[in-house]
Amino acid sequence: MRAGDSRGLRSESQIMSRRKQIYEGKAKILYEGPEPGTLVQYFKDDATAFNAQKKATLQGKGVLNNRISEHIMVALGRVGVQNHFIKRLNMREQLIRKVDIIPLEVICRNVAAGSMAKRLGIEEGEELPRAIVEFCLKRDDLNDPLIAEEHATAFGWASPSEIDELIATTLRVNDFLQGMFFAIGIRLVDFKIEFGRHFDGDTVQILLADEISPDSCRLWDLETGKKLDKDRFRRDLGDVTEAYAEVATRLGILKDNPGEVTNLSVVRNEKNKD
Ligand code: TMP
Repeated sequence: MRAGDSRGLRSESQIMSRRKQIYEGKAKILYEGPEPGTLVQYFKDDATAFNAQKKATLQGKGVLNNRISEHIMVALGRVGVQNHFIKRLNMREQLIRKVDIIPLEVICRNVAAGSMAKRLGIEEGEELPRAIVEFCLKRDDLNDPLIAEEHATAFGWASPSEIDELIATTLRVNDFLQGMFFAIGIRLVDFKIEFGRHFDGDTVQILLADEISPDSCRLWDLETGKKLDKDRFRRDLGDVTEAYAEVATRLGILKDNPGEVTNLSVVRNEKNKD
């Protein structure tokens, strides 16, 4: 590694160590942001599946997800989907608006796969009659169970009008992402998103939050059906970060930002050393 790169990495970790950690999840850490109402979202290389029963460190995954999620959040913001993203700070961190996360995982499916295919006995890969939105409760100790809207409203996890907004926004996100991925030869099978409440004085606004990356989507190559997402890790298919890098390349992230080519080739070289 060149001296400049190692200097860059040192100063990054020095900055991090001064920050107050707010929360550590399985793939990300949140730190206090530089201004009130902001947080710094740090993308780790850790990957987990099956509620963290399976764990690994995939060198470079965090760098790729930081870039892919930035790309998608910025694109969604341009078409009016309000989200928490403010700006990318460095290879692994982005500045975000602080929100109170709504404790629901909102899943949108276009093609039968994963838990729905299993639950309903539908063959993986079958196109669904229309996009289907599902809700899971964010509770690791219960394995994020599938719930009905009724549970969410009765127990106060989200109000009826919030549920309507979550569904409408999720379907808009789906339309946009389906087109975006189709244009680069990728089938958007399904994805999971999260939302938060952003408080600004007396007003509350619902913002798309968390991340959108190959960790939280199923992405299949249109021609070959090759999986370009976290199922490569869940199902031991290998070449996980290579698949994520393929998504980043097709999205034009490397092309549009020549400086990042160096960074991502560092990621690849680091991996090749293992
Ligand atoms: P599932 O078929 O396993 O329920 O997953 C549906 C979608 O949600 C898929 O794109 C992967 C994503 N997902 C997450 O982002 N986090 C999770 O914890 C799980 C189980 C799925």
